[in-house]
Amino acid sequence: MSAKFVINGQNKLFGEIPVQGAKNSALPILAATVLVDGVCEIHDCPDLTDVQATVNILRHLGCRVKREGHCCTVDGTSAAGSPIPEKLMHEMRSSIIFLGAILGRFGRAEMFAPGGCEIGLRPIDLHLDAMRKFGAEVLEEHGKIVCECPNGLKGTQITLSFPSVGATENILLAACRAEGTTTLFNAAREPEISDLADFLNAAGARIQGAGSGEIIIEGVKRLTGCVHTVIPDRIVAAGYLAAAAMTEGKVRLSHIIPAHIGPVLPILRDSGCEVEVRGHTVTLRAPNRLKAVKSIRTMPYPGFPTDMQAPIMAMMTVAEGTTVIVETIFESRYKHVGELGRMGANIRVEGRTAVVQGVPMLTGARVSAPDLRGGFALVLAGLAAKGTTEISEIRHMERGYEDICKTLSALGADIQRVNDGDRNEKEQ
Ligand code: EPZ
Repeated sequence: MSAKFVINGQNKLFGEIPVQGAKNSALPILAATVLVDGVCEIHDCPDLTDVQATVNILRHLGCRVKREGHCCTVDGTSAAGSPIPEKLMHEMRSSIIFLGAILGRFGRAEMFAPGGCEIGLRPIDLHLDAMRKFGAEVLEEHGKIVCECPNGLKGTQITLSFPSVGATENILLAACRAEGTTTLFNAAREPEISDLADFLNAAGARIQGAGSGEIIIEGVKRLTGCVHTVIPDRIVAAGYLAAAAMTEGKVRLSHIIPAHIGPVLPILRDSGCEVEVRGHTVTLRAPNRLKAVKSIRTMPYPGFPTDMQAPIMAMMTVAEGTTVIVETIFESRYKHVGELGRMGANIRVEGRTAVVQGVPMLTGARVSAPDLRGGFALVLAGLAAKGTTEISEIRHMERGYEDICKTLSALGADIQRVNDGDRNEKEQ
């Protein structure tokens, strides 16, 4: 039975919430346990469907995995490099992140091409070219990828034509146990890359420079078990600050690394919010009416994050003035625009540019989540809108946001998760 969110809007959000562990850190770190002969204890793993999909693949590969609350314990000792079946690959397209780990450990990796998704074609050419640079033979046919390097991966020099997050992660994973040293130029600098490197170094890897554009990895023979805590989710954190901003609220986030949302804070302040950073907490107090931020361009970290484009667009739909947004990372990441329009937003899209003309008020409507971040943007719009908003296809949001209803209700929102067939209480 599919479910939907029902939101009665215009409640001001007040209170304090902790930030969940980062999905985009937990996924590559869990995949990295395939490289480890021993037991890894990973704390602050968020309770998400994408994490469960990754655990399912680990178990398929022969790892022993125990999940207790936010702690995942993985024993990769008896892992085998069995092919990942299509069903498991399609549960989550980012399972391509297993490529580097499986190839690095077993010298052979077989999986299905992840294919595109709602936000774009999501090619993996940079991943596969990098595996070839390590000496692997790469075969792509019938939608399958087979990488083989029977004599083991050899350290190499790689320059990425684009600082791809996933390709950087796969290169780190493949290089960890390669023979010799690998130098990666134009690496992605996202905080999740540094978190993955911290985990791998705790397991005995020798990685320097993660977080910068140049990373050096000295291959080692073995990786051993370790304990690691996943960093807080910077995108989820910024999203909940946007919720406070849109509802004239005041919200404090604890368990956050403020530097990681550094690219978003100026946008929140320019829109008229007071933002106070104190240690590992960030407090946002919203104005009565937001001001439009003139222009926003998504960029690789430390630029403004593409994953915050949809939530910030939702914010700008009710701001005073006009905002020009340019989405430079993904080619079709505006699927939320039509749904926001059904709630009264005034947005025009030309290619990768969206022009948002702020309106005084959105109105509740029945809308459908197009993807993970676009779905969260609709939740934000529903919180601010007059009347009731029903959001279907919430499976998208449940991939990346842990228990949205509980979190937002704790801040005073009127939001419920109901089965699609049911009517919300007010209609009954
Ligand atoms: C990661 O995706 C994140 N996913 C994405 O978050 C995030 O939006 C993205 O990085 C950018 O920050 C995970 O970490 C699981 P990329 P990834 O490789 O690795 C092109 C979310 O909402 N490209 O940096 O796939 C690609 O087409 C998700 O949590 C190639 O051309 O991102 C895109 O235009 C969405 N060839 C650009 O690079 C390649 O081989 C950025 O992709 C790889 C990528």
